[in-house]
Amino acid sequence: MSNMMWAGRFTKEIDERVNDFNSSIKFDSKMYKSDIEGSIAHATMLGECGIIEQGESEKIVAGLKEILDDIESGRLEFDPTAEDIHMFIESVLTERLGDTGKRLHTARSRNDQVALDIRLYLRDEVTEIKAYCVSLIETILKIAKENLTTVMPGYTHMQRAQPITLAHHVLAYAQMLMRDIGRLDDLYKRLNQLPLGSCALAGTTYPINRQRVCELLGFDEVMGNSLDGVSDRDFCMELASALSILMSHLSRFSEEIIMWCSWEFKFVELDDAYATGSSIMPQKKNPDVTELIRGKTARVYGDLNTLLTMMKGIPLAYNKDMQEDKEAIFDAVDTVKLCLKTFIPMLDTMTINKENMRAAAAKGFINATDCADYLVKKGMPFRDAYKATGTLVHTCIEKGLTLETLPIEEYKAVCDTFDTDVYEAISLEACVMQRKSQGGPAPEAVKEQIKRLEEKLSEAR
Ligand code: ARG
Repeated sequence: MSNMMWAGRFTKEIDERVNDFNSSIKFDSKMYKSDIEGSIAHATMLGECGIIEQGESEKIVAGLKEILDDIESGRLEFDPTAEDIHMFIESVLTERLGDTGKRLHTARSRNDQVALDIRLYLRDEVTEIKAYCVSLIETILKIAKENLTTVMPGYTHMQRAQPITLAHHVLAYAQMLMRDIGRLDDLYKRLNQLPLGSCALAGTTYPINRQRVCELLGFDEVMGNSLDGVSDRDFCMELASALSILMSHLSRFSEEIIMWCSWEFKFVELDDAYATGSSIMPQKKNPDVTELIRGKTARVYGDLNTLLTMMKGIPLAYNKDMQEDKEAIFDAVDTVKLCLKTFIPMLDTMTINKENMRAAAAKGFINATDCADYLVKKGMPFRDAYKATGTLVHTCIEKGLTLETLPIEEYKAVCDTFDTDVYEAISLEACVMQRKSQGGPAPEAVKEQIKRLEEKLSEAR
């Protein structure tokens, strides 16, 4: 009759359509290594606790290692009709070891097994994503160190606002990424908890040793409630949230690079290896990588939304809805890795057009605040200084001049506190040099920022 694992209770074969619909092996086979690692720890514990014989435990462990080798060398292929990766590996083990293989699933359910496997799988992924973030921060630090005095306009409302440097600008992204690392480190603590031993939902009557499995698999803690153990997916939602925020950072940076590549800005030029051409317009050099990152951000947000919505109405404990967790969280993780992997070398090879940045900074009255501050330093209340400077900007616009080229007589006509030293005070370089406040763009403040980032980075590595 049926050779399905649950055949005893059933009198018919499963409908092929239901089997296809139910099966998750297409997307959970990527957890094969985690599944085997978890089963090895479980079998070891079963043997040590005398729940199965020591000899059988050893055979199971050896059999599982062989299956791992066979999968990795391509000798064993996944059966696309298997229900999931857990059933597949167990059935191969049983084919190979007979009754001994059938003892592996003692004191375990697929509910705690799958919860364990996703955690094991994501632990490695989080570590890898964190390493990518570290490497991106290093690339940003390199650009910052080379551009401590590269003056550019800082913007608000996309209007030129105040002078900053490129170092200061790109380091804002290093700070964001540092917080991303912080979020990954923090969620890792809750990810790194052991659900195995929760069994189907209500623990077990076997004398299992969860603490031992916890040690064998390097988890920080055994989960405290078996219902929660099998049905918690907070770690997926948390990771997808952290990854969504991370993508928002990559997307903002990408958007700026897209603008900076345009003829209107021409602040940077991408290396030919990281740009694409057009099929019809011979002159085009398109920043596709950054546009795709901006687009893929939507996908990761979608994955987060899938997870949040999937979990919101699920009664305790396991329900099959939860099988939908994997495609969403795997897609989020894969997408983020793909984006970081391409973005880092693209950024690293980008050419900076310092002259264009400086030229843009020279227009747009971005030293107007400094002009007002000049009057304040001579004793005038800020609001009056602000108004006087506004009048000067108006005069400049009417006469087609800048604050640097406006004659001193015009200054004096608005306010006789002005003297020729105003030109020194409003020079772009002086404006940047004077912004020495902590976190500001003056090279000495930026150097301090770099130092602190490097300290944090060496802790994060
Ligand atoms: N493939 C299932 C999943 O990914 C494994 C758990 C199945 N458990 C069950 N009781 N049907 O969620």
